[in-house]
Amino acid sequence: FHVDLDPKETDRGAYPYYMLKEIDEQPAVLHRIQKAYLENTDKPAISTELLTAMKHADRLYIVGAGTSYHAGLVGKQLFEKLTQIPTEVVVASEFAYADPMLSQRPFFIFLTQSGETADSRQVLVRVNNEWHAPSLTITNVENSTLYREATYQLLLNAGPEIAVASTKAYTAQIAVEAVVAKALGEVKEIEFAQKFDVRRELSLAANGIQSIVDEKDKLKKIAHQDLAKTRNAFYIGRGVDYFVALEAALKLKEISYIQAEGFASGELKHGTIALIEDHTPVIALITQAKTAGHTRSNIQEVKSRGAQVLTIVSEALAKKEDRIVIPTISELLMPLMSVVPAQLLAYYASLERGYDVDQPRNLAKSVTVE
Ligand code: AGP
Repeated sequence: FHVDLDPKETDRGAYPYYMLKEIDEQPAVLHRIQKAYLENTDKPAISTELLTAMKHADRLYIVGAGTSYHAGLVGKQLFEKLTQIPTEVVVASEFAYADPMLSQRPFFIFLTQSGETADSRQVLVRVNNEWHAPSLTITNVENSTLYREATYQLLLNAGPEIAVASTKAYTAQIAVEAVVAKALGEVKEIEFAQKFDVRRELSLAANGIQSIVDEKDKLKKIAHQDLAKTRNAFYIGRGVDYFVALEAALKLKEISYIQAEGFASGELKHGTIALIEDHTPVIALITQAKTAGHTRSNIQEVKSRGAQVLTIVSEALAKKEDRIVIPTISELLMPLMSVVPAQLLAYYASLERGYDVDQPRNLAKSVTVE
């Protein structure tokens, strides 16, 4: 099921780079996903057959590479909270050659923008030929290989993503995971799912992203002040903030070539903190009440070693010294908010360094070789 796109979707228009256009498109993409998945009651996009197959599973395996893997990490919490089915997230290239102890009734979910990633295809070949398990591919490209070879398919409706650095596909993957998890949780009569108003949350997320992209000049200044000249940088967080830190670091790495690392903030003191020097940029993500205090103390630890600290904080948890404050929505979907400043910081850092933002060196949009 997909919503028709108008042809202008693929031209850059007034944008200097596709990546900025695609960052700006994220609110519209979330609205498109709402329309495709939540407003079409007569022909539900998520079939009863798919939900029945997923309900039968005793464990979900989310498979992805790069940014899609990071979207899977966020999805784990969505599926476990909304459906109470244990969920494992695996790196496609690792799982393709592993010897996993699968559960009795596994169900595989493939996240892939292109639908052609060789590492992910390698896993799907094993799922079909060796493990004979059901699978769902969530992709942006209808009739792609992973779309065709999975048992079930759902589309991201994100419109063509041209920039190598994935942005709107990442947020679209999280949104579709939330919609599927909500539908599955309702079929399983899980109270948390019944109460979770995913349609409202996606509307709040779309409005929240709009307010962030409307103030992108603020992020351009911060990128200039904090990131323009640095050789390395750290994104830190706990729980789902750590998962977004991994995605934030990948964005920065792949288009500005800054050696950026996403790190669990509680884990820094077990060695990696030795890398913190005077002015090392450390960007902390704080969107979860339960761990906010702990990450704040990790910030003190790196500050005392000279780090140049920047915080991306939800309004509900913000303090006056925080420089990037983002709207508060359900904590489960805060990655839809916190990733956007990171996408823009990466964009402006790359621009400032004079690189080709859309076509970074050594990278391809779809890695169709193992
Ligand atoms: C992300 O910005 C990169 N372009 C890359 O990591 C990408 O996410 C990865 O290659 C997976 O691609 P897919 O979603 O098309 O499978």
